[in-house]
Amino acid sequence: TTNREKFRPIYHHTPAYGWMNDPNGMFYKDGVWHLYYQYNPFGSQWENMNWAHSTSTDLMHWTYQGEAIQPDALGTIFSGSCVVDKDNTAGFGKDAVIAFYTSAGAAQTQSIAYSTDNGKTFKKYVDNPIITSDVPDFRDPNVFWHEDTKQWILILAAGQQMNIYSSKNLKDWKYESNFGEGYGNHGGVWECPDLLKVGDKWVLICNINPGGPFGGSATQYFVGTFDGHKFTCASKPEVTKWMDYGKDHYATVSFSNAPDGRIVVLPWMSNWQYANQVPTQQFRSANGLPREMGLFNYNGEDYVTIKPSPEVFAAFEQKPSGRLQAATWLEVTNIKNNASIVLSNDKGEKVTMVYDGKAGTFSMDRNESGLSDFNNDFKAKTVAPTYGAVKALNIFVDRSSIEAFDADGKLSMTNLVFPTKPYDNVIAKGCKVKIHALKQ
Ligand code: FRU
Repeated sequence: TTNREKFRPIYHHTPAYGWMNDPNGMFYKDGVWHLYYQYNPFGSQWENMNWAHSTSTDLMHWTYQGEAIQPDALGTIFSGSCVVDKDNTAGFGKDAVIAFYTSAGAAQTQSIAYSTDNGKTFKKYVDNPIITSDVPDFRDPNVFWHEDTKQWILILAAGQQMNIYSSKNLKDWKYESNFGEGYGNHGGVWECPDLLKVGDKWVLICNINPGGPFGGSATQYFVGTFDGHKFTCASKPEVTKWMDYGKDHYATVSFSNAPDGRIVVLPWMSNWQYANQVPTQQFRSANGLPREMGLFNYNGEDYVTIKPSPEVFAAFEQKPSGRLQAATWLEVTNIKNNASIVLSNDKGEKVTMVYDGKAGTFSMDRNESGLSDFNNDFKAKTVAPTYGAVKALNIFVDRSSIEAFDADGKLSMTNLVFPTKPYDNVIAKGCKVKIHALKQ
């Protein structure tokens, strides 16, 4: 039945009913991808936060598993992460799944819950909270195992910096260091960190709200080194790097324990400027597509590569087919220096994408994309640097979203759109577009 809703994505994760924001506590175990998320079960605006749970075996088809962690005397349940405790370092059992989240009450403090049934149900730790502070914005703990120093590391957001802690048992945490003062963008509060080893470098993900390149919330990151105690950024303090150049990419963090050394990240596909007002019914917000993260170097700076996960491509017919549909993958090749792709419907609603090879930019204009009067900040044209030539693009349309990716991973752009009828026409200039239908 939810499939009849006009703006309900067909191949992106959404809650059937209610409000969703940040992805939380994602992990992989025994062939299953687990996704928890900030959820309000009572309505489709932000309130009453708890963690709801969905699972998938292919990152594309999700099954709702119910609410996993609910509010208690310490507060509602804000964002955080999970680890699989393979060596029973915490004493909750071998292979226990341990969740770290923020208890949002009179103060923001950090708490633990553990699961001995593969993340289905959680018990709260009796000695919560495990980390406290006087800083008012103090949240979103993200935990990982640091192999070189053989200890657990927790990174969390504290105002406009990230704090780093270490632990042997996941319960007792020692403050190590902080990162952020003077570095990157400080137009808003820092939130939802992640710290990831990519090859021999480290990437610190720092979601920020507001301060994004086109207003509102966005995801910046820093590349550098981490020795188990301190993160050191390799760039000059004033350098700011954005993971995605759309308006609707936020709270992005990675799956813990992913197989084959993969780094899989998942965004919340909205913006705090208007997330509570978008014209969907019964539910609000979807996740962006799952993405694989790597690194590339351009003119002496390291940047992340972002590519749709292989599971995304596998969900589509490999043989191109006819017309543009509400759920489509557009494969763009033979791209010339001034290429454009316009998606439109017979209501005069359209989205214009332009690659300007001389300027080295790719842009997406949603000023006339459909409904936009629900909030003044929705109309926008977003522009990304391409760091060299773009040879091919993959563009994913799903009823109310458009995600554009450079095939080499050098740019991603995630934007919502609310056309009153699906775009069914595509005009391509200076490039070739193949249309792939979603597998039935
Ligand atoms: C980010 C955020 C987090 C917080 C959560 C509350 O979108 O503000 O910092 O934990 O949302 O829902």
